[in-house]
Amino acid sequence: DLPNTITLANITHNTDSHTNIPSTLLPYLTRNLHLTPHHPISNTRQIIESLFPPTTFARYNNLTPVVTVAQNFDCLGFPPDHVGRSKSDTYYVNQHTVLRTHTSAHQAEKFRTLEKEGKEGYLISADVYRRDAIDRSHYPVFHQMEGARLFKRDGKSSGELVDEILRDLEGMAVPNVEVVESCKLYDNDGGNPVQAGKGHSVEEAEALGKHLQRQLELVVSKVFSEAALAAGDTAAAKEKVKVRWVSAYFPFTSPSYELEVLWNDEWLEILGCGVIRQDLLDYAGRKGSIGWAFGVGIERIAMLMYGIPDIRLFWSADERFKGQFREGVVKRFEAFSKYPQCFKDVAFWIGEGRGAAAAGGAGGAVGSGEEFHENDFMELVRGVGGDLVEDVKLIDEFTHPKTGRKSMCYRINYRSLERTLTNEEVDELQAKVRSQLEEKMGVQLR
Ligand code: PHE
Repeated sequence: DLPNTITLANITHNTDSHTNIPSTLLPYLTRNLHLTPHHPISNTRQIIESLFPPTTFARYNNLTPVVTVAQNFDCLGFPPDHVGRSKSDTYYVNQHTVLRTHTSAHQAEKFRTLEKEGKEGYLISADVYRRDAIDRSHYPVFHQMEGARLFKRDGKSSGELVDEILRDLEGMAVPNVEVVESCKLYDNDGGNPVQAGKGHSVEEAEALGKHLQRQLELVVSKVFSEAALAAGDTAAAKEKVKVRWVSAYFPFTSPSYELEVLWNDEWLEILGCGVIRQDLLDYAGRKGSIGWAFGVGIERIAMLMYGIPDIRLFWSADERFKGQFREGVVKRFEAFSKYPQCFKDVAFWIGEGRGAAAAGGAGGAVGSGEEFHENDFMELVRGVGGDLVEDVKLIDEFTHPKTGRKSMCYRINYRSLERTLTNEEVDELQAKVRSQLEEKMGVQLR
């Protein structure tokens, strides 16, 4: 039942065995929350953008989400077996084309053209797509902002280049943060080979690392003072935010870091970043430059800053939500009353569909029984319940000692953000989930 073509952003693509974009996802491709006036995603984007001078950083906020596998993975040095490439994690238009899973998909093309525009860096804000779990902080569409800053050698010695980077850093405002912990410059880095010596020196990488960290500490400092002011806490707004730099792994940066922030007594990961691998810059025609890049999830920042408790709210058409962000200043989100939840469990056998008619052929886009991928199940539930599903949790899992078959039990929590659901409609949704599970995923209900 898979059509031969799929049309996205006015362009028609051929489908193939990789195609796994449900029709329910299509309307999101044109929503552009990051550009919608007064929307908290757009407001948050603008607050972060305000910390990057436009004379240095070009803004790109209109790039199409349909990109090639080469742009999203290959050019960034993703190994062939990286999980991010799997059909259970990524939306494939066809084997060569995906919905971008991150804004880094645009790195190479922008590195290539920046210079012509007279800029030394960029900020890209965009919608990104990932197949994932269902809960209050995950949604198959979300927004990222990516930034990068390059420095040209231009005949300078390495020492002069390092000085230039450090001088620029001195010119930046002082962030109101306390760095309580910081990993080493090169700290394992997921086993990434150390890049220093392959086109830039350790001293250069170190200077870039400092510049990068200062710039991002400024972002955190701004976001958290806004959050405190929004909560009406002027004293907290003046306090230093505790942060720590943790080593991380991204295929396209080395060293790589994550910035974590202490928020309500918990360490929260805010963003990923690092020194751009020299081979990627070389490939993009920037052999004579070095630089850094970062990527931040805009929803995560907006949820923190406004106190928005559920990621589904961003997509709400309810005036009680949208009406709260019209003023120029950040104000804490006021929850409208919380409607009752209603949970339903569903249990089924997966694996060797022994005895069951696990229709091998019928060819749904989702795996037909051979292998169970949790994200396929999540998507099926979203397809039926849409934004009426608050979260889905695996509550039991066991393997039958005799048959070796595996049983899974999931709890689906139905709750509307806007009204009270009736028992009948929840029962109907659950019945649909059950029948689609049998039809499309070839599992055996218990
Ligand atoms: N693209 C990465 C992600 O989505 C974030 C990142 C961007 C990391 C740029 C390093 C440099 O997780």
